[in-house]
Amino acid sequence: MSASAEMPYFIKPSLNLDAEAKRAAYEQAQMAIDANLDGETDRILKMATINSVLKTYLPYYYWAGFYVVKNGRLSVGPYQGTLGCLHIEFSRGVCGKAAREQKTQIVDDVHALDQGSAHIACDPNSASEIVVPVFNPQGELIAVYDVDSTQHSSFDEIDQGYLEKILEKHFRLSALE
Ligand code: SME
Repeated sequence: MSASAEMPYFIKPSLNLDAEAKRAAYEQAQMAIDANLDGETDRILKMATINSVLKTYLPYYYWAGFYVVKNGRLSVGPYQGTLGCLHIEFSRGVCGKAAREQKTQIVDDVHALDQGSAHIACDPNSASEIVVPVFNPQGELIAVYDVDSTQHSSFDEIDQGYLEKILEKHFRLSALE
């Protein structure tokens, strides 16, 4: 499926980066996140800041946000982008699979998945995605971090490596309220 929903004026189509440019952008973003979150413990503040910085530095981040574990399902938390689905069951979507398996998921073409079961299309402009599990200091799953791109195959092991590192540092390995 090609992009079909109208994009708001403040959101642009994604621009993929090569490996070198991608690493450079993540290095910059990581420094900005670490500097801004130094000494902070509030989870909402951390989620909002990580979203804003990553979406600013990575030009293929079309939708970026957290789905938090609440009442036995995933519910949307801080995000940047077009309107996200409010609730996702653990049994559905790429987010649900990341939560069930507690493992990062990378999908090169989301429209190749079974719609409504293996993938949930909150915005038809999304073409590829990565979803990373987020753990607290007790090792419990507290959220998943979902990033969508309007390009195919935007995400790879470079994204996975940086995102897992950033999320581990600020949620699993630091004080969290
Ligand atoms: N595509 C996700 C749902 C969340 S939206 O992309 C914001 C999924 O299949 O789990």
